[in-house]
Amino acid sequence: MTTAPLRPRTGDAHARPATDVELEPVAVRFLHQPPSATIDPDTELGWMRRLWPLVRSHRRPLVTGIVTGLLAIGLQVLVPALGRSAIDSIDGGDRGRLGTLVVVLVFAGIGRFVFGFIHRYAMFEVAWGVETDLRALLYDHLTTLTFSYYDRTQSGQVISRANSDIRSMQVLLAFGPIVGMSVLSFFLAFGFMLTIHVPLTLVALSMLPGVYVFGQRMRKTVFPLTWVSQARMAELATIVDENVNGTRVVKSFAAEERQIGLLAKSADHIQWANVEAIRARARYNPIIEALPRLGMALVLLYGGWLAIEGDVSIGTLFAFNAYVIMLQAPFRMFGFLLLQAQRAAASAGRVYEVLDERPDIVDSPDALVLSEVKGRIEFDDVHFGYAKERPDGDLERAAVLRGFDLVVEPGETVAIVGRTGSGKSTVARLLARFYEVDGGSVCIDGHDVRNVTLVSLRHQIGLVFDEPFLFSTTIADNIAYAKPDAGMDEIMAAAEAAQAAGFIADLEHGYETVVGERGYTLSGGQRQRIAFARTLLENPPILVLDDATSAIDVKVEEAIHRALEHLLEGRTTLLIAHRLSTIALADRVVLLEEGRVVAQGTHSELMAKEPRYVAILAEADPAITDAGGL
Ligand SMILES: Nc1ncnc2c1ncn2[C@@H]1O[C@H](COP(=O)(O)OP(=O)(O)OP(=O)(O)O)[C@@H](O)[C@H]1O
Ligand SMILES: [Mg+2]
Repeated sequence: MTTAPLRPRTGDAHARPATDVELEPVAVRFLHQPPSATIDPDTELGWMRRLWPLVRSHRRPLVTGIVTGLLAIGLQVLVPALGRSAIDSIDGGDRGRLGTLVVVLVFAGIGRFVFGFIHRYAMFEVAWGVETDLRALLYDHLTTLTFSYYDRTQSGQVISRANSDIRSMQVLLAFGPIVGMSVLSFFLAFGFMLTIHVPLTLVALSMLPGVYVFGQRMRKTVFPLTWVSQARMAELATIVDENVNGTRVVKSFAAEERQIGLLAKSADHIQWANVEAIRARARYNPIIEALPRLGMALVLLYGGWLAIEGDVSIGTLFAFNAYVIMLQAPFRMFGFLLLQAQRAAASAGRVYEVLDERPDIVDSPDALVLSEVKGRIEFDDVHFGYAKERPDGDLERAAVLRGFDLVVEPGETVAIVGRTGSGKSTVARLLARFYEVDGGSVCIDGHDVRNVTLVSLRHQIGLVFDEPFLFSTTIADNIAYAKPDAGMDEIMAAAEAAQAAGFIADLEHGYETVVGERGYTLSGGQRQRIAFARTLLENPPILVLDDATSAIDVKVEEAIHRALEHLLEGRTTLLIAHRLSTIALADRVVLLEEGRVVAQGTHSELMAKEPRYVAILAEADPAITDAGGL
């Protein structure tokens, strides 16, 4: 092998649209920094109260936003009043006053613009900040949740919570304060108008309750519909996700029509909800928009009459008209806010549901860091069953392991043999503490796996499964997954040992070939070999191979075994296998039946004295009984 070239980074796979705008943040390093706060853990509190610590952590923009918002509102209410004085000074022929007022008006306008800008900017900064925090919290939290959670959760549901639910909370956070400010502006203007002319004020605002009432009516219809539509979007996401990921199954059963039918039904449901919502909007919106205009007409009628009588000035008329238009906004938006608040509350419920999910497997407070492992594994009277949710919501456990005992000495290779569904993979999962035992204990070098940190535990154990998951990145990146800074020489050595180097060299881009999603552009055997290389590169003292070579043909498997023989040296290995050729690698074979070890010994001992063993192997490979063993 020549000196190792440095591994180039994977290039940008997606072409960017031509644009003048810089699409990537400049000089920002994407280091994950956990949010400085989290939601209040007290589930009794309302959703806003629970969110408050997170909102408060964005103190600077929050305070800036509120202060500038108040200033902007003050100026906004002041402008029609200034306009009134200006117009009245025209009437009075006072040029100097008119000039001053116009200058003040211009500054008020500029101030209103500047404060309004800062207010919006700061409020959105808070809202987007909280959205980013929530998403980071959610993702961090999802990584702590255990397999038992993922066993019972649909990925479409998780995705829609991370996307649309967090978004709907963000919308409320962004618009809530803005609407709040405009409601405040209503009261300011209302008070101001009352000081000028009470009856005219009542006439001017007489139509606004109508804006609110019709708005509420519309929302009563629209809200449940948008909610239904949102929930159905999550359903649709799940269907699309399954169609895309399960496309091989769908096609092989020629079930496209049925799947398209499912999708169409789901899409129809969404469409129905959206069309109904639009129907309600189309009915009420024109009324809501016409009402303030009617208000203006009334102001002109009654106010005009008052002006002719000399009771109010033309400037007052002008100011009242401006207020009628200005003040419809709070009435319209307030309803929207109520709607959005309901929606955000429901979304928050769904997001908090995930965040409140307690991981059932965590580091114990005094957990040790497992290091310098010799590799002695001990399962002592292990009892275990997967939790299943019954229709009434209770959890029920069907025992898989019942008194499983096994000791593997450092450096030993032990094969676990058993019928399908007997719990072999379960043994591997318990060793890595993917699930917690119901009884008994699992120890490595005498340390109970419950007393060591999860990270250190999993670093000591290399697991290779029969259905390996590859990421849609380069082969080199996939192999270096456990050790991202690995040099090209290490990657190639690992590939060599896993007998993957040959086929990788034949690929057009070699190690830089980007594999399709989940590695589907490779054959099953090729994927297994990459997964093998990935684990070998990590070089863990304990190796668990769960049917890891099942898709690899016997010749290649032999080559892997030759490579493995010296790789397995000094390493404790659990082999889960159906094939005789794989079992032959083991120093000792244990037979798993009815949740416990029913027999053990070398392969030939078991062949000689254990009819159950012979029977199981014969099921896997009928040639065995004929050949009489190895
Ligand atoms: N995530 C899970 N949730 C619930 N039950 C499970 C889960 N995984 C496995 N089981 C059940 O536990 C039992 C043991 O499963 P396990 O995967 O350990 O079998 P196995 O011996 O590895 O089988 P195979 O040889 O087919 O891989 C099976 O009856 C299976 O249905
Ligand atoms: Mg299995």
